[in-house]
Amino acid sequence: MNLNKFPRFCYRRLLSNRSSNFFRFNTYSQSSNCAILGIETSCDDTGCAIINQDGKVLSDVVHSQNLIHLRNGGIIPDIAQDLHRANIEPAISGILQEANMTMADISAIAVTLEPGLPLSLVVGMKYAKHLARRHNKPIIPIHHMEAHALITRKDQEIPFPFLVLLISGGHCLLAVAQDVDKFLLLGESIDCAPGEIFDKVARRMKLKNIPEYSKMCGGQAIEMAALKATNPQMFKFPLPLADYKDCNFSFNGLKTSVLLQVHRKERDHEIKANNVIPELNDLCAAMLAATSRHLVHRLQRAIEFCHDNNLIPETNKKLVVSGGVACNNYIFNALTMLCSEANYKIYRPEAKLCTDNGVMIAWNGLEKWQRGIDIVNDFKTLDIKANSKLGVSLIDKVKESKIQTKLMKLNL
Ligand code: KG4
Ligand code: ZN
Repeated sequence: MNLNKFPRFCYRRLLSNRSSNFFRFNTYSQSSNCAILGIETSCDDTGCAIINQDGKVLSDVVHSQNLIHLRNGGIIPDIAQDLHRANIEPAISGILQEANMTMADISAIAVTLEPGLPLSLVVGMKYAKHLARRHNKPIIPIHHMEAHALITRKDQEIPFPFLVLLISGGHCLLAVAQDVDKFLLLGESIDCAPGEIFDKVARRMKLKNIPEYSKMCGGQAIEMAALKATNPQMFKFPLPLADYKDCNFSFNGLKTSVLLQVHRKERDHEIKANNVIPELNDLCAAMLAATSRHLVHRLQRAIEFCHDNNLIPETNKKLVVSGGVACNNYIFNALTMLCSEANYKIYRPEAKLCTDNGVMIAWNGLEKWQRGIDIVNDFKTLDIKANSKLGVSLIDKVKESKIQTKLMKLNL
C-alpha cells in the first residue's frame, strides 16, 4: 500500500463536490414511518414501486417493452418514449391502489434522472414533477447505476464499503461503494456492455425464431442455449484487453468474432431465411465462457487494487453483482469461483431486482431519505442527464498501479 501516492482524504474531498445543485435538508432525515414512491424509465422498462421505512415493498410493477423491441429488432427511442407515456399513469395508479394508498400517504418521489435514453428519462422526470407539484412532495433524484449497486442492501446485510460489479445492457463497471452517494469507479467498458452484445448476437443468430426463446431477452436466450451445448470447446475466443493492466472492459471484439462465426457457419451450411446454424448452442456457450473469463480477470485486478490501497477492509470483503446480466447463472458461478479464491463473499439481488425495476429506485430513495441526502423541493434545478459517470474515477490510478495480476485459471 502506498498512502503517500494515494491518500484517502483526497477521495473525500473529491466526493464532497458532488451534487452541488441538490438541496440537502437534514430535517428530512428520519427513521419514522414513511413511504417512498420509485419511478424508473431510463430505458425500455416502466418500473414503479412503493416501499415503506423498513424497505418492505408495498406494491410494484414493471411494464416491460421487451416483446415490442424484439419485434422491431432493437430499442427505438421514440417508441420506447411512447410506451413509457402510455404506461406511467396506469402503473402509478395501479400501485397506489394495490398498496391501498393515495399520494397523501407518500413521503417523497424517487425518480431516475441519469444516465439513460433522454427520451425515456424525460417521461419519468416530467411525471414525477407533475405528481410532486400537484401533491406537494419532494423529489429524490436517482442515478440508475447507484440504484443497481445498492438494491442488494435491501434484503442482505452489506455494510459500506463494498466492491460492486454492474453488468447490464447499457453498462459494465467496477466500483467501490463507500456510502449511499459515494462511489469510486475502478473500471468501465471502453466500448459496449455485455448485455448489449448478447442482445445483438441473439438477434443475428435469430434466436427468437426458436419458440422457447421467442419471448426472452438476448442474454437469457443465450444462457438457455448454452446449457444445451454438447461441445462448448468448439469455438475459442481471445481474452479481451489481456495486455492492459487496468480494470476496464471491452466487448466489441468478442461481438465481432462471434458474429463472424455465425456468418461463416451460415455460409458453410447454406443457411437461408429464418433458419439457424446447427452450432448455435456451442457458440453461445463459448461466448458466455469468454465473457465470464473477461469479467473474472478484471475483477481479480480490482480486488488486488482494493487490497493494495486499503479500500475494502479485511472484515468486509464483499462483492455485489447487479444489473440485468447478473441474472446469468453461468457468469455468476464463474465470479463465485474467483470470490471463493479471494475470500470474498458474493451477493446478487433476486432476478427481478437485477433487471430494471422501480423497487431499486424506491430503495435508493429510502436510503437517501433516511440520511437527508438529495431531497429536492425546488424542481427547477432538476434535469435529466443521458451520460453520467458513477462516482469519482480512479481509473487512471488503477492504470498507474500496473498491477501484475496472475490471472486465475478458470475451468469453464
Ligand atoms: O439492467 P437491465 O434490465 O437494463 C439496463 O440497465 O441495461 O439489463 C438488461 C440486459 C439486457 O441486455 C439483457 O439481455 C440482459 O440484461 N440479461 C441477461 C440475462 N437476463 C437479462 N444477460 C445474460 N443472462 C441473462 N440471464
Ligand atoms: Zn439497468
